[in-house]
Amino acid sequence: PYPVWRRMRDEQPLYYNELYKFYALSRYEDASAALTDWQTYRSGRGSILEVIRANIDIPSGMILFEDPPRHDLHRALLARVFTPKKMLALEPKVREFTARCLDPFVGSGTFDFVADLGAQMPMRTIGYLLGIPESDQEAIRDRQARSLTGGQESADLYQAVTVDSSMFVDYIDWRANNPSDDLMTELLTAEFTDETGTLRKLTRDEVLTYVTLLSGAGNETTTRLIGWTGKLLAEHPDQRRELAADRSLVPNAIEEILRYEAPSPIQARYVARDVELYGQTVPAGSIMTLLNASANRDDRHFPDADHFDIHRRIDRHLSFGYGIHFCLGAALARLEGRVALDEILRRWSEWEIDSENATMDRTSTTRGWRRLPAFLG
Ligand code: HEM
Repeated sequence: PYPVWRRMRDEQPLYYNELYKFYALSRYEDASAALTDWQTYRSGRGSILEVIRANIDIPSGMILFEDPPRHDLHRALLARVFTPKKMLALEPKVREFTARCLDPFVGSGTFDFVADLGAQMPMRTIGYLLGIPESDQEAIRDRQARSLTGGQESADLYQAVTVDSSMFVDYIDWRANNPSDDLMTELLTAEFTDETGTLRKLTRDEVLTYVTLLSGAGNETTTRLIGWTGKLLAEHPDQRRELAADRSLVPNAIEEILRYEAPSPIQARYVARDVELYGQTVPAGSIMTLLNASANRDDRHFPDADHFDIHRRIDRHLSFGYGIHFCLGAALARLEGRVALDEILRRWSEWEIDSENATMDRTSTTRGWRRLPAFLG
């Protein structure tokens, strides 16, 4: 699997793509070191290849595309309302949303891991958290998914998290006058110290940025995780049966699935100063990509890394990134992955992928299945 990445790791650990003019680090040690060195490898022009190239104005608060000190201030602000405790308290809701997706298929013999669960449950969860009515969630997700994967080669997360943000404006305005106990209300009412040291509430535009960031960053990636769960466990029936017999193995299996198939396989950075690597100079102003999906398959860090093993002891994979931009939603993503698999296994322990009708999405930001129909046993 992934012979190109293996060759890069073994033969060109610092790779340069002449045609598209970017560098790549594919080994675990190199990618993780670069992810923690934000002074050199910057996100402020975007952390997606196409965004850095396009030289786009980035809205304030889009922490994925910010550097310290701004990043830290904005991240702390978001982290104050979007806490792991709050995420974990969602478990009963996540279970309910998952059951609602799965129950109609009990006895039906077929089920699509992505269309029927992966594309639904994470959207319901984040929608619930933000206080977006269920009746409107579908339309929002469709538009996000379309801007993320819709036809264009350069489809990217940036579009998903910004271009279609206008659809949230109405909710924000409405919520401002009708407070509830959701995250949007908290963002609207909490007071924060801004860059100038002033204590104030967020503006509507700032709330909009946070809301679109959360819904954009949290949906597609988790959809991919659920797709890969269906696929990898179809390919490893013994491990699937073992999981069905002992569901306490589920959390570790989710970590292994995340390691094995990183839903967000590449992070990009702008290189702020000349760097010496493997006897070469990477000049300031270059674009560096960090291939976390390749790093996760690096035998130097994970013994026999191409072997999928739900029992593997994983210290740290790079699927949620590393360093100051480490995924803010990791606790929620893990919860969703764990509950999804647990609920699937409560209903079915046998499935096979209907490969003829399965289709894949590949963009520079996500990698996974768009359709993954399965025959259930
Ligand atoms: C950041 C992956 C789910 C919100 C990141 C980064 C990665 C990532 C790799 C770092 C990007 C970089 O360094 O440039 C994933 C994966 C997920 C997932 C694989 C699911 C399996 C979620 C969820 C949410 C979320 C559910 C929220 C609802 C964020 C935010 C950031 C982020 C806000 C930016 C953090 C920062 O820049 O400080 N994610 N994510 N993610 N993620 Fe996730």
